[in-house]
Amino acid sequence: MTKMIYIKNASQIITMKGHSDQPAQKADMSNIGVIENGSVLTQDDKIIAVGTDEEIQSKYKEEISKADQIDATNKIVTPGLVDPHTHLVYAGTRENEYAMRLKGKTYMEIMNAGGGIHATTRTTQQADFEQLYKESKRRLDTFIKYGVTTIEAKSGYGLTTEDEIKQLEVAKQLNESHAVDIVSTFMGAHAIPMEDKDNPEKFIDLVINEMIPEVAKHKLATFNDVFCERGVFTPDQSRRILEAGKKYGLIPKIHADEIEPYAGAELAAEVGAVSADHLLKISDQGIQMMTEKNVIGVLLPGTAFFLMAEFAKARKMIDSGVPIALSTDANPGSSPTLSLQFIMNLGCLKMGMTPEEVLTATTINAAHAIGRADLIGSLEIGKMADITIFDVKNYYMLSYNYGMNHVEKVIKRGELVVG
Ligand code: NIG
Ligand code: FE
Repeated sequence: MTKMIYIKNASQIITMKGHSDQPAQKADMSNIGVIENGSVLTQDDKIIAVGTDEEIQSKYKEEISKADQIDATNKIVTPGLVDPHTHLVYAGTRENEYAMRLKGKTYMEIMNAGGGIHATTRTTQQADFEQLYKESKRRLDTFIKYGVTTIEAKSGYGLTTEDEIKQLEVAKQLNESHAVDIVSTFMGAHAIPMEDKDNPEKFIDLVINEMIPEVAKHKLATFNDVFCERGVFTPDQSRRILEAGKKYGLIPKIHADEIEPYAGAELAAEVGAVSADHLLKISDQGIQMMTEKNVIGVLLPGTAFFLMAEFAKARKMIDSGVPIALSTDANPGSSPTLSLQFIMNLGCLKMGMTPEEVLTATTINAAHAIGRADLIGSLEIGKMADITIFDVKNYYMLSYNYGMNHVEKVIKRGELVVG
């Protein structure tokens, strides 16, 4: 039995058409392919038609008669949102550190004293598979209620081979059992364990010679990410880890220039990373090199907001030609949010982006940042039927009524999963 859904009368369909081959850059990021009074038709897990109500009604009479109908009057329809940078799988919370930061301690001070990533590493190491699965599933349930149908998820709170694999296995099982699709990233190089502090080379050797081969052997990740930051991994150490991953088919990503300028963006361009993420402190040369190599800048304004830091210069990067995506960076320390809609607000209000650009950055460009633009990120014939319906009459309203969840319905692979 084929399953069909006919969404009709939408005040606006945001198609994101025409950006599947290359991430959108510059003025093209504003080209979001709006259809007023539009319809979308799905069959099984695919989109089979997108157009105006009249076009679809006249061309697809027979299909429409067999389809479940959803009336989207006064609502907008977008591709299922894509979150390209999350630390989904972890145990525990760090609200105590939040309170410390409110009294003046910095994120790095807390981490260097054995808190921060080390604190979540301890709770994640202690948690068994079931507990990790349960805590992460709750977060995924929220992601989908907020309109997100695909996320990237990183390891990096295990820091032993066994515990890194445990995190990636949880992500794998959630990907199989949950409506949200998960693309996995190995991030063993998230921190140097406290016990190896005085001998970082020992841990780097473990990442390169044991963790990466093991992760690749079990096909547990697509990407390899490194926290390239002063006091964590140097650019040279990051380069070695990313080059080692490449030999096993893992595509580089970098946490770059987050707290201090550290030539992370330059390194991303040099190693052929698909994205460089954060970029709060990117240099002009970094911007130029990312533009030349078409490295996607994944910006995480929730982190700047939560760490009370200066926001990344999205406007400057877009105008220079860096393709931009946006993400929550969902994690218990620097960005404990699951709302990509709030991230869109911050993109507009704090980074000088337009409502069109933030939509591009959370759909098709986000899909490019995780290597899935052939399947998701736009509403086009043949793409996966991942669709979000928001209860707002136009797309400006999404970032106008801020700090709210506007989702009414979510369709994942042609099935209604929310609403
Ligand atoms: O993207 N910067 C490193 N990693 C995360 C934070 C992880 C944590 O604090 O637990 C980030 O900000
Ligand atoms: Fe992160």
